[in-house]
Parts: sequence; structure tokens; C-alpha cells
Amino acid sequence: MDLSRNENEVLKFMKGLPDSSRVAEDSIILPGMTKRELVSAVSWLQQKGFVTVETEYEQKFALGGEGRKYLNEGLPELQVLKFLRNEGSVMLDQIFVRFGKERGGIAITQLAKFGIKPKGGKIVYLENPAAAREIEDRQKALEILDSGQGSVDQKIMENLRGRGDLLEVKKIGRRYITLTDKGRRLEIRDSGKDSIEEIDSKVILSGRWKSSAFREYDLSSPVEALHGASMHPITYLINRVKRIFLELGFSEIRGHYIEYAGWNMDALFIPQHHPARELQDTFYVEVKNKPKFENPEILQKVKRSHESGIPGYSGWRYRWDEAEARRMLLRTHTTVNTIRYLYNHREPPVAVFSIEKAFRHESVDWKHLAELHQIEGVFYGKDANISTLKWLIREFYSKLGFNEIKLIPSYYPYTEPSMDVVAVIDGKEVEMGGSGLFRPEVTAPMGLKEPVIAWGLGLERLAMMFYDIKDIRDIYNSDLDWLQSYRFRR
Ligand code: PHE
Repeated sequence: MDLSRNENEVLKFMKGLPDSSRVAEDSIILPGMTKRELVSAVSWLQQKGFVTVETEYEQKFALGGEGRKYLNEGLPELQVLKFLRNEGSVMLDQIFVRFGKERGGIAITQLAKFGIKPKGGKIVYLENPAAAREIEDRQKALEILDSGQGSVDQKIMENLRGRGDLLEVKKIGRRYITLTDKGRRLEIRDSGKDSIEEIDSKVILSGRWKSSAFREYDLSSPVEALHGASMHPITYLINRVKRIFLELGFSEIRGHYIEYAGWNMDALFIPQHHPARELQDTFYVEVKNKPKFENPEILQKVKRSHESGIPGYSGWRYRWDEAEARRMLLRTHTTVNTIRYLYNHREPPVAVFSIEKAFRHESVDWKHLAELHQIEGVFYGKDANISTLKWLIREFYSKLGFNEIKLIPSYYPYTEPSMDVVAVIDGKEVEMGGSGLFRPEVTAPMGLKEPVIAWGLGLERLAMMFYDIKDIRDIYNSDLDWLQSYRFRR
């Protein structure tokens, strides 16, 4: 193992001491090495196992605010004692007037301990050499504590410690270094002085690189773990889902966040008075210069399907309003991608999917997001029927390891029959999405000739199962610990 120049120097110093010496780090002085460099070298030696470091904490006293004040003007008892000595005897009031209430009070309390006590409102000076000496020593103690040089007598220390803000206690950690057996065995380079630690312009320009040795990189030396970029768990899951549908022979399609209600709702036979079309469920968008409505020719057909139906079906029987179809919104589901794609690809078979965002004016809770991804898919062709649909959905979930999926009857304005996918998350049944066979009122106006099976599944709800997440909001709250616990690479 190669050592840096500083590590080498510290180790050499330690080896020069008698065996098993324990040295305080702050007592080591090595030429050309700053304190910080020394600490860093010692820490490296410790990590590499050549020395052990023990930290011991000591209490150290320093002057507090009051201590510093009395360092300059003298302790109250010293000031008052001098005054008494000059005056012989003084009235208590005189002391308070002269030294202030606080300082005077402290002085009286302290002097009383030496028998210099007030009697009848006045204090008489008594010659007491022991008291005078001790008070002088207290004053000296303040100087000692201030400079950090010398030691203070135990008895004096006790007195000072008990007095408010006179002293401040500091906890000081001291590091002690001991050489390990491994350190003792290591042979050190005689002088690391001319080996090159870092390549900089000086090393190159001076030509020193030609004659000197380079310090080797130590590939086994311990380093902090780095968290390189990795894929977001949702991105990973999207890729997994895509691969499943691609392998089943589906192609991916894409759509737009902002859509006409005509495509998002009306083309899917969602009546204009349907509650899901209301403001509390759908984000409508005000657009100044609306793009032109694609394929406006469908509007008349959709109108007829809504108002009076198609042959054999009665329709919703209300007055359809084109203005309502020409409002724009944030798509509420990706089934809008499906229906437009089918209209533009009327020749069966068609098997496509999309994994994109949908938006709902939803109150967010443990299983609802207002912005979510849907795994949308459709198969249009001769063999499109409910068994195929059931098989496809079960196959999809089982490829992700979920075999306990329930399919239950449900309702959508555009499918009949309809089925919801239900799974159990954390002991609770949660809807994973919807599916069904498109109704003729949807397919006929679009000019589709074969049956259509379709589904729309929640990606984040799938993520809850896949990653064992109890609250759907946790997926997007950017908890670094959670994100870093996955290591998905492209
Ligand atoms: N669009 C429905 C939803 O958002 C799901 C669905 C898709 C239902 C296709 C039936 C057919 O919940």
C-alpha cells in the first residue's frame, strides 16, 4: 500500500517512538506540515489500519462574560475588601451606592464566608491575611484561566465554578494515536520528499517528472460510495411495460396533453351531461388561437350517434352541442389516443398501446394523483372478444409477477361489457384500471368494421404493487433515500 508524503512522515515519526506509545495528536509537530494536513494524514493512516485513534473528551474552563469583566476591574470581593481596608468601616448603603446592587451583593456574600459580616447595617474591616490571600488567588486564577497557562488550585476552582457566568465549560476532544501491528510492520520509504504526488504544470514545466518517482494510486484504499446517475423507478417500470407490449406484437403510439373534448369525450360516446365532464373532474384549458379541429367530418356522425343513435340503438336522446365538443382540456384519459388512432387506421388488425400522462381534477390522497400515467392499449380485429381481453390483461400482470388479479364487471359509456382490474395493495382492494369491448355507438360513427377491445391501466398504481409503496404520493416526493435504493441502469 502506497502512502502519501504526509502519511509517510507521520508513520516515520510514530515508528521513532518507543513501542506502544500513545501520542496526543496535537503534540505532534512535523516540519512543513500544517495541523490540518497532519489530522488528514492521521485519518488516512487510521482508515488504512496503520494507526488507531482514540478521542478523549476533557472539560476545560474558560472565562465567561462576567469572568472577563472581573478580570479587568477585579472581583467584587476584592474591590470591596480594598475599599474596606481604606475606610475601616462603612455603611452597607455606601457599598451599594459605590459598587452597585449586584456587585455589592456579591461582595458581601463572598466576604461573609471569611467572617467579614455586616452588623447593624454596617461592616467593620477585620485584618484577615488568609482571606486576603485567597481573594488575591481568585483574581490570579482568572488570569490563569484567561491565558490557559498554569493551573488553578482545587478550592479556588470550586468557588469560581459555583458563580454564574464567571466561567464557561468547554468540552474538548483530544485525539490520541497509537501505532498498530500492521503499522509497525510496514516498511517506510526513506524519504518521500521527491516523489510526485500530483501532476501540475510545475511538475511538467520543470521536467521534474523525468527524474522523480510518482506516488502510486492505491486502488484498494477505502473511498466514500458515489451515487451515480440511475434510472428513476417509474422510468424503469415504463420500460418494462413497453417491452411486454412490444413482445406481444403491439406498437407504441403517442398523443397530446391538450385535446378537444370532441375527441377526448364525444367521440367515445360520453354524453355531454356526464358528470366526469364537469369542472370538478376535468381541467379545461382556455386557448386563444385554437388549432383546427382534426377531422371535423366526424362531428356530424358523433352528433347523430349521441342524439338518435345508430341503426338498432337509440342513442342518448338529448340535443348535442358542437360548442361543447370544441372546448379544449387536459386529456382525462389516454383512450383519446386510441380512438383517434383507430379512426385514422380503419383497416384491421390494429394492436397499439401508449404509456402517457392523463390529468384529473382529483383530490390527491394515498391512491389518487391528479397527474398520472396510463397504460393504454387496444386490439381491433376479428378475434377481439372478451376472452382475448381477459387473457391479455392477465398475461400482462403475470409478466410482472402478479397473478392475483381480479376482473370485475364495471361501467364505461364507451364499452359494453366493461371490466375493472382490481388488485390487493396493503390488504386493501384497489382499482388498477378499466377495460371493455367498444360499443357500436363508438365504432360505427368511426367507420370501424371489426370489434375493438381496449384497456386503460394506472401506471402509478401498478408501481405501488411493484415497489411495495403504501402511499401513491411517495412515488413523486423525491425522497433521495428511496430513489437511491434502486440501481436501474439503461
Ligand atoms: N379510460 C378509462 C379510464 O381512464 C379506462 C378504459 C380504457 C376503460 C379503455 C375501458 C376501455 O379509467
